[in-house]
Amino acid sequence: MAATHEFDPMGGPAAPMGSAHGPSGRGTVPPKPPGTVYLVGAGPGDPGLLTLRGAELLSLAPAGAEVIDVGKRPGDATRSQEAVNKLLVERALQGKLVVRLKGGDPFVFGRGGEEALACTEAGVPFEVVPGVSAAIAAPAYAGVPVTQRDLAASFAVVTASRAGGTNPDLGRVATAVDTLVLLMAAGRLRQVCEALLAAGRPGDEPALVVQWAATPRQRSLLGTLSTLPDLAADEGIGPPATLVVGQVASLAKHLGWFNNSPPI
Ligand SMILES: C[S@@+](CC[C@H](N)C(=O)[O-])C[C@H]1O[C@@H](n2cnc3c(N)ncnc32)[C@H](O)[C@@H]1O
Repeated sequence: MAATHEFDPMGGPAAPMGSAHGPSGRGTVPPKPPGTVYLVGAGPGDPGLLTLRGAELLSLAPAGAEVIDVGKRPGDATRSQEAVNKLLVERALQGKLVVRLKGGDPFVFGRGGEEALACTEAGVPFEVVPGVSAAIAAPAYAGVPVTQRDLAASFAVVTASRAGGTNPDLGRVATAVDTLVLLMAAGRLRQVCEALLAAGRPGDEPALVVQWAATPRQRSLLGTLSTLPDLAADEGIGPPATLVVGQVASLAKHLGWFNNSPPI
């Protein structure tokens, strides 16, 4: 396919789109027309966790490609989700290929679904490039397998934060699975642990919080559902942090491998 389009890493290629299968012709996804949005998962922190497909798309960006930081930080509402959706669609309709790089996996609490819907509504083609989600990677980097024979045969990923401060899902899944992984937990650790205790999880159950997983700043704390909120407050744990509740959390004492850093 001819290569007349700018690449924009928010956005996409001026480079040839490859022949039969995607930009390099190596993959299994059919080539996309100009003006495509790629929703790419970047993983939780270490650039080495970006997928080959994600790296391939980014490598198509020519020097001088437009780069727009639309990252959201807690309490930072400078660019709304609607504004991001609009930007993606606008650039695609200008004929650009747009790489929307997102933390973790685009479809795991990443609002990638909303961005894909915005594309659909505007008639803009899109591709989803799944990423390594913090839901699995953050526990793994802290030495916690979310499942383990004899300890955990099921896990659930839940958001600790819901608009309006309520989280009906938490009560519903609290005791339904062996391991609970809670994202967006940093600001609500105490409320979450109390809600889980109220829902019937035992107070002495191991609980671990890991902050900045897969980065040089990674640190993790191991306690129990009863003790972790105070431990985390004392250590000043803030976002981004992931909470793991269940027997598997105690494995971190033996399996902490990253930077040789077992949990505090
Ligand atoms: C809005 S959610 C996005 C999740 C993302 N789509 C994914 O699949 O990982 C952001 C939450 O992911 C978790 N998170 C992301 N990166 C993390 C990291 N490096 N260490 C620990 N938790 C992380 C935190 O719970 C954070 O509040």
